[in-house]
Amino acid sequence: MKTNKKVKILVIHGPNLHLLGKRQPDIYGKFTLEEINKELKQEAKKSKIELQTIQSNSEGDIVEAITKGCYDVLIINPAAYTHTSVAIRDALLGVEKPAIEIHLSNIYKREDFRKKSLVSDVVMGTISGFGKTSYTLALEAAINFLQEKQK
Ligand code: DQA
Repeated sequence: MKTNKKVKILVIHGPNLHLLGKRQPDIYGKFTLEEINKELKQEAKKSKIELQTIQSNSEGDIVEAITKGCYDVLIINPAAYTHTSVAIRDALLGVEKPAIEIHLSNIYKREDFRKKSLVSDVVMGTISGFGKTSYTLALEAAINFLQEKQK
């Protein structure tokens, strides 16, 4: 990267993701959110990128975090709000910042109500179905995007 300005990636984990490890492990895996966050921070550090993580069960808190805009790229797993939240969609549209949507499970392979995402068409791209690797793939995509931008 050309500049020395430290870039920042914000990772938002939506409702019930604090339960990872115990929550439907056959669908979401046996690893905990702490493990995911630790791995993401280690990976980001290798590229000298600051990475902050937030987990919230509250739609309002997630809207606040998105619209504060203290990041260069956002990685978001809106969890159940993916399928319901016009507020989160509007927040993403409002800040016009690069964002990546991720899901642990393949939402297109599950119940019909999960097949509709209200955010997919307002983000750069979506990664769905690779378990915790969905997060690392999103981080790789975010880092590539930032590196291209700074060339
Ligand atoms: C999820 C999929 C959502 O449908 C669900 O409500 C979640 C997690 C995923 O990561 O696979 O809480 O976003």
